[in-house]
Amino acid sequence: MLELAAGLGDTGFLAAQRLGAQGRLLSTDLAPEMVAAARRRAAELGLENVEFRLVDASGIELPDGAVDAVVCRFGVMLVPDPAQALCEIARVLRPGGRAAIGVWAGAEHNDWMTAAGRSALELGLSERPQPNEPGPFRLADPMELRQLVEAAGLRVVTLENVPVHWRAGSVDEWWEVVLDMSRMLTTLVERLTPDQVGALRKGAERRLAPHVAPDGSLDVPGLAWALLAERPDGLSGS
Ligand SMILES: C[S@@+](CC[C@H](N)C(=O)[O-])C[C@H]1O[C@@H](n2cnc3c(N)ncnc32)[C@H](O)[C@@H]1O
Repeated sequence: MLELAAGLGDTGFLAAQRLGAQGRLLSTDLAPEMVAAARRRAAELGLENVEFRLVDASGIELPDGAVDAVVCRFGVMLVPDPAQALCEIARVLRPGGRAAIGVWAGAEHNDWMTAAGRSALELGLSERPQPNEPGPFRLADPMELRQLVEAAGLRVVTLENVPVHWRAGSVDEWWEVVLDMSRMLTTLVERLTPDQVGALRKGAERRLAPHVAPDGSLDVPGLAWALLAERPDGLSGS
């Protein structure tokens, strides 16, 4: 099994634990730091059936039909050309092999990630991202996702909404986490005045207010899409 854009690798590790002694996971990411962190995590978990490699999902250095399964959570939409990444996934799958792909649903369903960015937009502190720019919501449209997967030659088995919950002890904790997660937001905040940052935070907090409990903790619902696809026996070109 191949995991692409594995980050810390936890999604693939859940699968690796089920693969048994004969099965192997190849955990990969574009960033060497991520591959190193995933390697450390696997050691902590005592996993022995995992290999690690630097892999760009745009061009997977594996032969055609090399793997039984591919998993990629919150990665395909970050590749400059997602169509190409999906073709690569189809190519490296063996006939009958399956791919599980997770992407975020629309920004409007994911206040945790978008409250600050939308506040910045509203205040004129940042520009609206181009629709085809790589980013968390690039594949939020399930029709487009399905079309791209089918165009890559895969058959869509299921395409389902997955509700998620993001939790934090306080709004301050939320702010720390989103700054840590989003380079775009960190870069923006670094070039703003303290007053502008204050206004940005206030706007974001207004958006988050419905999700703040009386004790100040946050429980923010979010939404993702989970797609399961299969490579038909007769995929051409491989
Ligand atoms: C949002 S994180 C998701 C990590 C993990 N899959 C998870 O769900 O927790 C996105 C990951 O994609 C990786 N990435 C970005 N572009 C990539 C590419 N072209 N090929 C492979 N990995 C890529 C990043 O280095 C990062 O680790």
